[in-house]
Amino acid sequence: MDRSFFSNITIRRASPQDAEAIVSIRREAWLSIYPNPSLGITQTDLYRHLDGETGELKHLTLLHWQRQIGKEDGKHSITYVAQHDGAVIGFVAPRFIREQRRIATLYVTTSARCHGVGTKLLKRAIEWFGRDQDIYLQVVAYNEVAISFYKRFGFELTTGKPFIDPVVQQQSELQLPEVEMVLKAISIV
Ligand SMILES: CC(C)(COP(=O)(O)OP(=O)(O)OC[C@H]1O[C@@H](n2cnc3c(N)ncnc32)[C@H](O)[C@@H]1OP(=O)(O)O)[C@@H](O)C(=O)NCCC(=O)NCCS
Repeated sequence: MDRSFFSNITIRRASPQDAEAIVSIRREAWLSIYPNPSLGITQTDLYRHLDGETGELKHLTLLHWQRQIGKEDGKHSITYVAQHDGAVIGFVAPRFIREQRRIATLYVTTSARCHGVGTKLLKRAIEWFGRDQDIYLQVVAYNEVAISFYKRFGFELTTGKPFIDPVVQQQSELQLPEVEMVLKAISIV
């Protein structure tokens, strides 16, 4: 990748047409990062979780993202994508969940990692929330790259129990161990 790569990245609000790229980036990341032999988490488990036994979930996941982005009001939830040369190369989804500020997902496509795309996306998400309240996120407990990435921005591990999305829980038996992190609010006194 050339030196001008970073300056040519645009961060923009996602539209439902971006759902296909979003689903594909997320899927690629899951399959490459989350297999964990010592915890018995295999690629087959991940394929089943993402696609379903017979691929039936693929379409539903796409619909879910199309609908989610389509109904976002930009006040309670928003999705941003990073774009380079007309292609979506990463995304972030900050949102209010149970009145808490949460970064629901952040993924950068494998070939674009370590070029500042994740930094741009995370900064945009933090900006969208503002720093007057704590910002939470969850990360797979053995995803050390992501944990150290977030620590660079001031996120710290909490002792809290990670939030489990009941819809996701219902869809699959696979439960990846997660930890919660928080970026503490800046208090203005
Ligand atoms: C975590 C992730 C979003 C970071 O995005 P990125 O675009 O690669 O990050 P950046 O290029 O902005 O990196 C910023 C810093 O993070 C650190 N970092 C990022 N990836 C790293 C890696 N593979 N190894 C070591 N450090 C890394 C570096 O210290 C880098 O600092 P530098 O500017 O001094 O090089 C990206 O690796 C990713 O999508 N991973 C897979 C999905 C994931 O884990 N998402 C988080 C789930 S909650």
